[in-house]
Amino acid sequence: MTGTHLVTRSREETEALGERIGRSARAGDVIALWGELGAGKTVIARGVAKGLDVGQAEVTSPTFVILHEHLDGRLPFFHVDLYRISPDQAESTGWREALEGGGVTAIEWPDRIDADLPGDRLDIRIEHAGVDERRIRLEPTGPRSAALARVAA
Ligand SMILES: Nc1ncnc2c1ncn2[C@@H]1O[C@H](COP(=O)(O)OP(=O)(O)OP(=O)(O)O)[C@@H](O)[C@H]1O
Ligand SMILES: [Mg+2]
Repeated sequence: MTGTHLVTRSREETEALGERIGRSARAGDVIALWGELGAGKTVIARGVAKGLDVGQAEVTSPTFVILHEHLDGRLPFFHVDLYRISPDQAESTGWREALEGGGVTAIEWPDRIDADLPGDRLDIRIEHAGVDERRIRLEPTGPRSAALARVAA
């Protein structure tokens, strides 16, 4: 199997992984968060925000907001949640513009835009392994994301 494998045993531990990623992230970095409902995708996004010094780290997933922009951190942070989006609606969400926004983008439910995802992104795959346990794989898909994965692991 490819990539780095981790196991976390609490929400805090998973958030800390996101925080390490956020602290080292560079403008243009993209993180695709794969995993079922309740896996911990938003927990990682919240950690990334924290690592970018986004104020309050108020990263949640309100029902009708697809693209959250946090502009008060070290870099702009774009948090995209495509759960309710069908592939043909995706274009109108602004996710593509977010990638051009000179910041860091984290995408939940990236399967909605699968073929359009950037070629160099950090895939993070989260699986339930118990009530509070998650198996997490970091799978870089190019040199930029490989650098990010190295500092985060
Ligand atoms: N080791 C762990 N890592 C991350 N979250 C954990 C862990 N153990 C328990 N949890 C809990 O799992 C839940 C993860 O929720 P979260 O909103 O991050 O999921 P999600 O993948 O974003 O789901 P959704 O697809 O609904 O957006 C939280 O309630 C969190 O407290
Ligand atoms: Mg979520």
